[in-house]
Amino acid sequence: MSKQDDLRIAVLGLGHVGLPTALGLADLGWQVVGADDDLEKAKVIASGTAPFYEPGVEDLLRRHLDSGTFVVEHDVPAAMREATVLFVCVGTPQGADGAPDLSQIEGVARALASNLNGYKLIVEKSTTPVQTSRQIKESILRYSRSDASASPKGDSTPDFDVAVNPEFLREGTALHDFFNPDRIVLGVESERAAQLLLQVYQPLLDRMNATAESTVVLTDSNTAEIIKHASNAFLATKISFANMVADLCEATGANVEDVAHGMGMDPRIGQQFLKAGLGYGGYCLPKDIRAFIGIAEIHRVDFSLLREVERVNAGRVDRLLSKVRQSLWVVKGKEVGVWGLAFKPGTDDVREAQSLAVVRGLLEEGARLRLYDPQAMDEFRSHFGVETTGLTYCATPEDATNGAHALLVLTEWREFLDVDLAQVRDRMTVPLIIDGRNLLDPAAVRALGFECISVGRP
Ligand code: UGA
Repeated sequence: MSKQDDLRIAVLGLGHVGLPTALGLADLGWQVVGADDDLEKAKVIASGTAPFYEPGVEDLLRRHLDSGTFVVEHDVPAAMREATVLFVCVGTPQGADGAPDLSQIEGVARALASNLNGYKLIVEKSTTPVQTSRQIKESILRYSRSDASASPKGDSTPDFDVAVNPEFLREGTALHDFFNPDRIVLGVESERAAQLLLQVYQPLLDRMNATAESTVVLTDSNTAEIIKHASNAFLATKISFANMVADLCEATGANVEDVAHGMGMDPRIGQQFLKAGLGYGGYCLPKDIRAFIGIAEIHRVDFSLLREVERVNAGRVDRLLSKVRQSLWVVKGKEVGVWGLAFKPGTDDVREAQSLAVVRGLLEEGARLRLYDPQAMDEFRSHFGVETTGLTYCATPEDATNGAHALLVLTEWREFLDVDLAQVRDRMTVPLIIDGRNLLDPAAVRALGFECISVGRP
């Protein structure tokens, strides 16, 4: 029997992080049981369908359901009892006060307290504030003491470790990121936990021709938790910085893309996340930066730098709306085409997408909107409600431009580059494109007779 046959892994929570993680681990040869207390979602996944759009996930899901390396368990406590290593991937949504709502994490800890049938390594993968891992440990101890079933004699200390292994999966490239990590961060409090996690990731290191020395950051739990939040906060900071530079470029006739390129050639700065546009959205960056500001405040650390990052980001939508106003003069009664609703390409996710604020703003000003996105139409519709007056959901990108006085690009889907813009120009009432993501080549667009306004480009 190989080591991989001995060790069973459970992934608790099968969302955008949990499902790709579970399938990635199964693909590495581990026996993985995935569990989710959303019964409907668990059933959909068990039938071989991904409950959200994420490239490659459905193929891998079918393959590993067929081979039996991945099974779905509807009963979360049963999955806890079946496995030794438990990856906790439940949601940590933003609560009413802006701080993360950790009730799902606490729920897992309490359930674990009554399902500790032998040693367990509990691995926190969900993004949580520093010191959450310690809280998980204390919570398990507290509830297992009050639960006789956790300990047959009622007096022995349960045998478990809690570790932190933050995820760095981007939506739209989650599987690619799982199989090609820049780093694997392991925050552990015991040698046993360290060894077990290294064992879990060894097949991935082998596949990458990498070593633990080159890829693994072995540290303590608090540090691992801060690495995750600090990484997302820094990415958001880079984006807001690039957007301020774009404003300066607009004021002076410089080109933000060349500026970003010129800056990014310095390896200390790097090319990535310097793309100016409509700013960051999604389920992670906005929520994580808020959480990190809150953590700093709790610990009396003045991280007001991050408040500025947020302020700049929120201002991107106003800036786009003022470009619309400047171009159309009167927005009321105008027909506006919108290309792209997802918070970024490659996903159907519209959570905290900038498109929500843009569409809301234009509706308030009395515009009528024709919307198109290759993946996110249903998600967007469910946020706005089918009956919202002033919104038309279109079947093609061309449709969205029919009779429009302006076309807005809000998500940089590559497929928009394949649309015949000459045809689009003929469909529009006014050939005006406001490119919020610098997707299109302004010179080429202008050569076709459009007025083209983009971000930080002359
Ligand atoms: C982000 C991080 O990039 C992942 O490393 C992390 O694991 C994940 O959050 C998470 O915490 O789970 P994700 O939310 O999928 O991933 O999206 P990003 O690719 O980071 O993009 C976030 C937003 O920033 C998007 O709206 C995107 O359009 C915007 N963005 C990104 C820019 O405006 N400019 C850029 O240069 C890059």
